[in-house]
Amino acid sequence: MQRRTLLQGSAALIAAPALLRHALAADAPRFALGIASGQPHASGVVLWTMLTGAGLPERVPVSWELAHDEAFTRIAARGEETAELAWAHSVHAEPTGLEPARWYWYRFSALGQQSMVGRTRTAPAADAPVTTFNFAITSCQRWDAGHYAAWKHVAAEELDAVMFLGDYIYEYASSAKSIRPLEGGHVRTLSAYRARYATHKSDPALQAAHAVAPWLLVWDDHEVGNDYANLQGQELEPDFRLQRAAAYRAYWEHMPFPKAARPVDADMRITSRLDWGRLARIHLIDDRQYRDVQVCPKPGRGGSNTVALKDCPAFLDTRRTLLGAEQERWLAEGWDATRPWNLLAQQTLMARFSWTDPADGGGTYWTDGWDGYPAARRRLLDVVAQRRLGGVVVLGGDVHSHYVADLKLDYDDAQAGVIATEFCGSSITSLGMAQARVDAARAFNPHIRYGRSDQRGYMRFALDAKQLRAQIRVVDNALDPSSGISTSARFAVEAGRPGAVPL
Ligand SMILES: [Fe+2]
Repeated sequence: MQRRTLLQGSAALIAAPALLRHALAADAPRFALGIASGQPHASGVVLWTMLTGAGLPERVPVSWELAHDEAFTRIAARGEETAELAWAHSVHAEPTGLEPARWYWYRFSALGQQSMVGRTRTAPAADAPVTTFNFAITSCQRWDAGHYAAWKHVAAEELDAVMFLGDYIYEYASSAKSIRPLEGGHVRTLSAYRARYATHKSDPALQAAHAVAPWLLVWDDHEVGNDYANLQGQELEPDFRLQRAAAYRAYWEHMPFPKAARPVDADMRITSRLDWGRLARIHLIDDRQYRDVQVCPKPGRGGSNTVALKDCPAFLDTRRTLLGAEQERWLAEGWDATRPWNLLAQQTLMARFSWTDPADGGGTYWTDGWDGYPAARRRLLDVVAQRRLGGVVVLGGDVHSHYVADLKLDYDDAQAGVIATEFCGSSITSLGMAQARVDAARAFNPHIRYGRSDQRGYMRFALDAKQLRAQIRVVDNALDPSSGISTSARFAVEAGRPGAVPL
């Protein structure tokens, strides 16, 4: 009411624009982008928010509270952070000394306002005999391709953690025909990346999903630009390093990563590892920042292509890496044979997926995914096989299809053993390819047990020492913000016996 009166305006206020700005700022929502928590470990978790609205001072004190109960009667920790203009007034609070395997509630206050309340939890102690881990994998939430009904349903699942496996934003300009067109053109600058995150994070369903559980996050390409590889953009932009630095900065500002992960220039480490008690070791890896560029690109361009193996011998160059030598070694040395499960949270489909019959010249592959780096995939799975790790589950996103697959050392040998199990989640909203194309290709990709490109949603997992159970959760209509959800398929994996079995 006050704002309306002001906006309807008197001559006195129009004559005093500074006063008007001040009056508007006083009632601007300061926590309009919600809250989040992430990177849980046994004694702490990162709590995130960001101050919004006009007229923020350069440095603003923000206090936070973490409690054992939703009413905040039993405070477990509290503290103060400074939200700085230089980092988009983001807040990354890092309470320490918390109890393992506990649920907590948290909130922020600043400038006379309080944020919404979020729920989060710590991981179990690494040596604790944990019985269950409930989580979802999610990815690819293109704003202008649909509404976030899937997030509403993620928020209603009882989850210990939400894994987000990449494409939190898309850098593209919207078509005017989009269901919810984005402002601004193609994103390349810090201010444009920040604006894109602000739009996404304004969505109440996404905010609700952040508020129910800690997230484990990795990025994919669209947080920077389509199909980028290391320091090469798809358009071979000469200033791509600057673009990557701006993109990584905006990513850190808007995500619940610790201060130690704050990017320096164009580098930000997201690779990390987490033990969920004695039950599982979770590895979060980055296949974008350190990779070799894609083989056999289209003339004059970087990025992906879909190419026949016989036309592109570079596919088979054994020196090529998707993770970078250092991260590849870190992963190889970090597999854990003492726990029943190793979960590998990464960006894209790992199983071979040929678009033509491999019997005819070796097949045809999309060069941006693991298929573009077959020697690197083979090295990774060789370690899994040699270490006799029976409970490796690879989790991915990126391809806008629900895939369940057997991972093998040799896909041309129908008798070759299954080394690990793969679940690649579809998208929250981003559109997939025609189902008929996937169906046709499955005829010569028999290790792909399930493939649906026409469904939007996420995968929900229940893990215990004996079994992983997976539900493929699918929204009825991603164009409807109040869409219902159903389970389109169920699979189980027995510990020590790789390969998903339909339930
Ligand atoms: Fe995507």
